[in-house]
Amino acid sequence: MVVVSNRLPVDFVVDEDGVEGWRSSPGGLVTALEPVMRESDGAWVGWAGVADRELDPFEHDGISIIPVPLSEEDLERYYEGFSNDTLWPLYHDVIAPPSYHREWWESYVTVNRRFATAAGRAAALGATVWVHDYQLQLVPAMLRAIRPDLVIGFFNHIPFPPYGIYSQLPWRKQILEGLLGADVIGFQRVADAGNFTRAVRRLLGYTTRHTVVEVPGDNGDLRRVVATNFPISIDVAGFEELAARPDIQARALEIRAGLGNPETVMLGVDRLDYTKGIGHRLKAYGELLAQGRLDVEKTVLVQVASPSRERVATYMSLRDEIELQVGRLNGDHSTLSHTAIAYLHQAYPREEMVALYLAADVMLVTALRDGMNLVAKEYVASRINNDGVLVLSEFAGASDELKQALLINPHDIEGLKNAIESAARMPSKERKKRMKTLRKRLRENNVSDWAKAFLDMLTGRAAIEPGIP
Ligand code: G6P
Repeated sequence: MVVVSNRLPVDFVVDEDGVEGWRSSPGGLVTALEPVMRESDGAWVGWAGVADRELDPFEHDGISIIPVPLSEEDLERYYEGFSNDTLWPLYHDVIAPPSYHREWWESYVTVNRRFATAAGRAAALGATVWVHDYQLQLVPAMLRAIRPDLVIGFFNHIPFPPYGIYSQLPWRKQILEGLLGADVIGFQRVADAGNFTRAVRRLLGYTTRHTVVEVPGDNGDLRRVVATNFPISIDVAGFEELAARPDIQARALEIRAGLGNPETVMLGVDRLDYTKGIGHRLKAYGELLAQGRLDVEKTVLVQVASPSRERVATYMSLRDEIELQVGRLNGDHSTLSHTAIAYLHQAYPREEMVALYLAADVMLVTALRDGMNLVAKEYVASRINNDGVLVLSEFAGASDELKQALLINPHDIEGLKNAIESAARMPSKERKKRMKTLRKRLRENNVSDWAKAFLDMLTGRAAIEPGIP
């Protein structure tokens, strides 16, 4: 199998002394796919996270890594521009206004063609190629055009927007045609798949029957493309193992002690992104402190905000806003011995994250829109003593499965405050009952179940399609 995604599982880095090396790269996509790839000894085609470097293919953890180069101009137009300043805000309900620039689109087409060419070179005859995410939506059709022998899957890790929003996109038809080059198109939620098939009917006029889109071919044939939901997950057993490790449990106690052993540790873990609702969370928390419903002597909020897309203007201003808000809240509510918010603008290795999950009584996931939100699942998987409360936005895909969380609408600040307060005060019996059910539900859908469901559908379909060896 060949996986194609914008980012490789490892980023190329050069440290202060000029020493070159590789480091795990951020984000939900890589978190989900890495364990699947390690088992399938396939190839991974993607960008190494650095501009203007031609890097040779190499082996990493049993995966053959094939870097695709991006120039500084590609980064500005294809990655920061079209992917993260047009598609990202558009696909997340226009929480931030999307920018439309024709030269960004041209770069998106050029770079998608480069990825398709690299994937076409890496794939054996009749191989399966699995393309991922919004940065590469034109790759399926481009790849089919050069390699009709391949079985092509596409998975969209982020939401697919409702028609009224999607139809703003000047290149809305080209993107749909690009995706329809795949045999199976996967989405996180039922609603995302529905939004996609509706857009196909209205913009391309193709017939759709339930999850099947009938794509007319050149010779009058119909090619059947499946578009349906496959909710992604995490390596649950991997997180459980880390959570059971004595050194990680000791680290969790050390973290709590470092925070002054408060009664309640609350935790937020996000890429610093405007879709995550960090500001809404801080507002609710600040008001609870101001009203005396939470006590700074007994409660602390740890907010990990990992750096992301730092050259995109919306992300720069978000950082300023959040850091202003954190500074104000700490100024208003901290005492000499107790800090209201421990704010960390850093990324941490998996072990440290699990220690944080173990140290946290309450996890706050308040996304305004999120494809899935794997952090919610990581917290649940790590709570092996069945304790802890998850406050979860209904606008995160994870809320379709994690129904025993305290589900909230992050725009409703009063509702959010009530949920945070209830989480802090929830009796142990109820906490355990909820967490046990959440963990059971999570174990039913591991990341390998997700990959298997998608690939079974993909290979099963290939067998019934004419013309594929
Ligand atoms: C989300 C996206 C991924 C992306 C990740 C990190 O999880 O779905 O495609 O890789 O964010 O963002 P970045 O722009 O740093 O790759």
